[in-house]
Amino acid sequence: MEGYRLNPLLSQEQIASIVQHLADQISEDYGGRELVLVCILKGAFMFLSDLVRYLRIPAQVDFVRLASYGSGTKTSGRIEITKDIEIPIEKKDVLIVEDIIDSGRTLQFLKDRLALLSPRSIKVCALLDKKTRREVEMEADYLGSEVDDVFIVGYGIDFNENYRHLPAIYYVTPIDRSKT
Ligand code: IMP
Ligand code: MG
Repeated sequence: MEGYRLNPLLSQEQIASIVQHLADQISEDYGGRELVLVCILKGAFMFLSDLVRYLRIPAQVDFVRLASYGSGTKTSGRIEITKDIEIPIEKKDVLIVEDIIDSGRTLQFLKDRLALLSPRSIKVCALLDKKTRREVEMEADYLGSEVDDVFIVGYGIDFNENYRHLPAIYYVTPIDRSKT
């Protein structure tokens, strides 16, 4: 991708420490319960895979894929599910695993939808949170780090399907060619 600069935000080591800390909290809170992690594809796949390895308790894993209709980097109000969970969650403790909370609409949609399946509880674990962008009320129960209103890539998170493979997290800025 030309015309953009990737600026380091969180190193691999910083991410590892954040994710380990989250896994410790979750392991303490959910010991002895039937925990189902529901990962929102695609952005949270790397986060989920690290998180589950740091957990010290058993957990089942499932995935959803959501499509939101809007232009560019902005999530519109309309969200659809394009791949649903496959394991039963009735009477189980569900923890949604998300990469970034922005407007909050994606999580609001998914929480409402999963609630129809009568789980024992539904909570949210998010790696990053852009709190200043919120449009609906939504708080992560487990949060890695708050971030400014910047566009983020790496560690599973994409910009037009690029940069997901990067092991660290960056924010994207346009290169101003008039200054070169
Ligand atoms: P929300 O519904 O507005 O909270 O949007 C959350 C979704 O938008 C996340 O699951 C991400 O996929 C995407 N998103 C939000 N901010 C960024 C970003 O900075 N980079 C890449 N994707 C983002
Ligand atoms: Mg996402």
